[in-house]
Amino acid sequence: MPVDAAPHDPTTRDWWRDAVVYQVYPRSFSDSDGDGIGDLPGVRSRLPYVAELGVDAVWLSPFYPSPLADGGYDITDHRDVDPRLGTLADFDALVTDAHAHGIRVIVDVVPNHTSDQHPWFRAALEAGPGAPERDRYIFRRGSGPDGSLPPTDWRSHFGGPAWERTQDGEWYCHLFAREQPDLDWSHPEVRQYFLDTLRFWADRGVDGFRIDVAHSLAKDLTEPLRSQPHLDSRLPLDGTDPLYDREEVHEIYRSWRRVFDEYDPPRMAVAETWHPTSSRTYLYARNDELGQVFDFSLLKSEWDADQFRDVITRSLAEHGAVGGGMTWVLSSHDVPRHASRLALPAGTDVDAWLSTDGLAPAVDPAGAARRARAATLTMLALPGSAYLYQGEELGLLEVADLPRDRLQDPVHERTGRVLKGRDGCRVPLPWTASGPSFGFGPDGAWLPQPASFADVAVDVQAGRPDSSLELYRAALHLRRKLAHDESFAWVPTDDPLVLHFRRSGGWSCLLNFSAHEVAVPGRILLSSNPSQGEGLAPETAVWVEAA
Ligand code: GLC
Ligand code: MG
Repeated sequence: MPVDAAPHDPTTRDWWRDAVVYQVYPRSFSDSDGDGIGDLPGVRSRLPYVAELGVDAVWLSPFYPSPLADGGYDITDHRDVDPRLGTLADFDALVTDAHAHGIRVIVDVVPNHTSDQHPWFRAALEAGPGAPERDRYIFRRGSGPDGSLPPTDWRSHFGGPAWERTQDGEWYCHLFAREQPDLDWSHPEVRQYFLDTLRFWADRGVDGFRIDVAHSLAKDLTEPLRSQPHLDSRLPLDGTDPLYDREEVHEIYRSWRRVFDEYDPPRMAVAETWHPTSSRTYLYARNDELGQVFDFSLLKSEWDADQFRDVITRSLAEHGAVGGGMTWVLSSHDVPRHASRLALPAGTDVDAWLSTDGLAPAVDPAGAARRARAATLTMLALPGSAYLYQGEELGLLEVADLPRDRLQDPVHERTGRVLKGRDGCRVPLPWTASGPSFGFGPDGAWLPQPASFADVAVDVQAGRPDSSLELYRAALHLRRKLAHDESFAWVPTDDPLVLHFRRSGGWSCLLNFSAHEVAVPGRILLSSNPSQGEGLAPETAVWVEAA
């Protein structure tokens, strides 16, 4: 379906359908005041860098007041800025400057839970069993003769039971950390609070929203609560699960869409759901709901031609069926960086690899760079929207050897210190080869940065044609000049290990998973390989203009 031909005009309604969105994890991006924590003035000071990169929007992970039990996804006030990260005035200045640079701003909405320090939850604890203050959350009596066992077998995503007992003996549900009590979305005040929150940020000029754990708001809480042992591979994919991806959740997003459409241009939204991907996943992207849903299937793929081909084919077909905006993602703040991931041998258990401090199997940095660049160039050639995660443009590897006593992700503690969690992709960015915290800020950084950051800092890569940064810049600028419609067609190849697809406007992308060089059918516009010759080398992607 053709979309507006002028996607970078701020009044364009459908700008997001082919946007490149750059995810900023504010605590780790840039620190303006030397407290070791990245902040909003830090982000603002780097907007020229973001603009030069050539992205259309930034998505800011949570910067709201938070005790940081889950990196800011535990929020005490959804309509303010954490004092360590700045003020609302800093936020407004950031939005104004971003817009002046032609960059749109997307903020995170975290509706499944609050912090346990949120005034609602504190009031609920104080009011005691049976009080109406508890009805905004999911409080239940325990099971067993004396109520000393959790009410159900529900499991937390971060490990351990999804129930925590309070001092008065009741239990509350938390699908994530115990500091993140789940809200009860059947409560009208909960619904209203988030409608008001959307308006609060939209009125401040934000262009869109990323919806955290979008699939779990509507839960089946009829008594008796149903069992759900939370074994991902066995979750029902037909909307009958008591916790995830229920039909009723879509009514919530239809009511949100009515809010988004009060604005001109309408605000965009993208759903996050880690539920196993099925046809139902794409329903969140319907036009009367959120418009986009993250398709994580590329991110879940290994370095494998069949996996890439199959997930691209499926995503295009499923999105086409619902008319939603396509999305592609290789990295985020929740998964090991794709340069490391794609370099691991097929079948490697990434969690197990992390727990060996990334030593077994070893990641060869040159091979990792080759594959990461090729995968990225392929992603950026696909129709739809691409989400980049800060630092991937530098080709950063996962920092797999963070000392365990520095880890902050609740996953580490909640799995009994078995899994290391997600800190290795959240290490503060290197901006300069030298200086305290490699230019991240005037002093240290909240997570230790590896010495190797000196070789990959922004000031080392900028202007070096063979660098990862310059490849991203070139690709993003060229992408703006090439097709803006949603055309796509596979081109048959002689070797199943070579993928080739065509876009309208006479250009195409090839990706070589084989161990051999193959001929390139046309003039090369851009290559992922800094020493590109005439042919398409192994583990290389090229954009080609048809001869
Ligand atoms: C989402 C976020 C993740 C967070 C979780 C709970 O998956 O991306 O970082 O821990 O939700 O809010
Ligand atoms: Mg700071």
